[in-house]
Amino acid sequence: MRMVDLIKKKRDGGELSAEEIGFIIEGYTKGEIPDYQVSALAMAIYFRGMTERERADLTMAMVRSGEQVDLSAIEGIKVDKHSTGGVGDTTTLVLAPLVAALDIPVAKMSGRGLGHTGGTIDKLESIPGFTVEYTKEEFIDKVNRHKIAIIGQTADLTPADKKLYALRDVTATVDSIPLIASSVMSKKIAGGSDAIVLDVKTGSGAFMKTLEDARALAEAMVSIGNRLGRRTTAVISDMSQPLGHAVGNALEVREAIETLRGEGPKDLEELCLTLGGQMVMLAGKAGSAEEAEEKLREVLRSGKALEKFREWIASQGGDPKAVDDPDRLPRAAHQIPVPAKEKGVVAEIVTDQIGIAAMMLGAGRTTKESEIDLSVGLVLHKKIGDPVEKGEPLATIHANRENVDEIVEKIRDGIRIGNRAEKPALIHDVVITDPSE
Ligand code: URA
Ligand code: CA
Repeated sequence: MRMVDLIKKKRDGGELSAEEIGFIIEGYTKGEIPDYQVSALAMAIYFRGMTERERADLTMAMVRSGEQVDLSAIEGIKVDKHSTGGVGDTTTLVLAPLVAALDIPVAKMSGRGLGHTGGTIDKLESIPGFTVEYTKEEFIDKVNRHKIAIIGQTADLTPADKKLYALRDVTATVDSIPLIASSVMSKKIAGGSDAIVLDVKTGSGAFMKTLEDARALAEAMVSIGNRLGRRTTAVISDMSQPLGHAVGNALEVREAIETLRGEGPKDLEELCLTLGGQMVMLAGKAGSAEEAEEKLREVLRSGKALEKFREWIASQGGDPKAVDDPDRLPRAAHQIPVPAKEKGVVAEIVTDQIGIAAMMLGAGRTTKESEIDLSVGLVLHKKIGDPVEKGEPLATIHANRENVDEIVEKIRDGIRIGNRAEKPALIHDVVITDPSE
């Protein structure tokens, strides 16, 4: 087999066989096929696309390039959740204990990653004492005992994807649906869960800016999951504004605790119930989304989900008292309001810009090496459709430095005030796994 022939085949609109895709991914991972040939192929895929069969084969080839986590020692159906990413996305912190409170095992492996704020692990580390340094055996034991645990991602998961993603990043081939879908699904499948719930975000703070693109990505990922024997469901949710109010690590932990108390932002609660409902269904613990959501509402109401959160924190060395007294979480030295310049209604939020403001305060990483400040970030007081008086605070900045003029301006620019606006729907669609599979 020659790589040049395979590039030509895809360039001319042909379909690559499983064997050919395997040859490419294996050769690329080993360094036998050079970057320039794989970039040419990625560009051909960008223009020609891939069939559903090719996408599933590409996903499996990337899964086989590295370690495949074996979670079979965990009792029950393991359902993983993945978000395509947004601003102030606090869902995992609420969702994990919510679902675990129904005795469904949540075995979470999470990266730290780059972004506007840290990843779920960084956020949890703002709870004093909390740690993710456990062996795989300890991790599995914790899940069996408490139904919930989180550790850092193992280093050798899907090396082919790491290499390909870095190459796509510099060859203008990131935004290809078949390549994104296989990239995301390869990591989920190598992670060892039995079923997957995807939260595909759309809007100004999302990777997929339009509903049409988000739907295409959701359908592509659901198809790959089903073809590879993992029941997969995707929820398409709104990211035209940050989720909830808080953007920042400790601030989001506080928001998650409020939500588990039933006192959090309603959009965050609703999204957690929707995603959680799909997880409960895939775990076989409810026959319909309504029944699943009712079970979740019950563990919220009864305090069982909050109790599960306490149990989780304590089991990973964290201070469970921080759950009842969030003042034990790190707090920034300065709280600075961002007053509105005019009266009106919040018409639009440039969500990426709000995320960047949080990152400039130190809440996120710009490079893998950068240190994040867990205490900083911002809390939004106004969302799309809310009326605003001149001078009223749109947000509060939590900072560890005094001069935040530049950030005040960034947030003001990012929250557009107009005459009227409609509140966007939070859940745009649910792409359900094929029940016949
Ligand atoms: N996120 C991923 O993990 N992979 C992509 O290709 C794009 C976004
Ligand atoms: Ca939030």
